[in-house]
Amino acid sequence: MDGLWQLVIITGAGRGFGRASAAAFAQANCLPLHLVLVARSENELKAAKEEVLEGSVVRPKDSAMQPVVDIISCNLSNLELLEASVESIYGVVKAGGRAYDRAVFVNNAGSLGPQQVRV
Ligand SMILES: NC(=O)c1ccc[n+]([C@@H]2O[C@H](COP(=O)([O-])OP(=O)(O)OC[C@H]3O[C@@H](n4cnc5c(N)ncnc54)[C@H](OP(=O)(O)O)[C@@H]3O)[C@@H](O)[C@H]2O)c1
Repeated sequence: MDGLWQLVIITGAGRGFGRASAAAFAQANCLPLHLVLVARSENELKAAKEEVLEGSVVRPKDSAMQPVVDIISCNLSNLELLEASVESIYGVVKAGGRAYDRAVFVNNAGSLGPQQVRV
């Protein structure tokens, strides 16, 4: 594919804000687009990828202009594995041999922890 790519890396992309952001990027017509979705749950990442591709502005589904979506399952809270996790992300970015025009990093992974509801 000709042209420079947009790279968007989203942590916490399996559900919630991260997943919604991934879908929004795919609908924003900023193609060609390489999305890298990161979270721990591989099942949620697979579902997020499917949702992103279903909702992409590009039709038909098998078009060469579909976003490229890579998923990476890793625990970003595990500091011992952090370097390996970052290498995995860097690996999928490098692997495609694409030239990027711009890169966006949505560092969204996190948890609010236990919440108390007051009524
Ligand atoms: N929702 C709110 O009202 C609110 C308010 C203030 C701030 N925030 C912050 O906004 C962000 C998104 O919130 P949300 O409501 O969309 O949360 P969410 O629905 O719980 O989604 C969090 C995402 O982060 C991933 N994640 C969590 N810990 C991770 C880890 N250690 N390594 C890799 N991925 C991890 C989760 O997947 P896995 O569990 O599979 O890893 C999930 O995909 C969070 O950082 C949250 O603290 C939310």
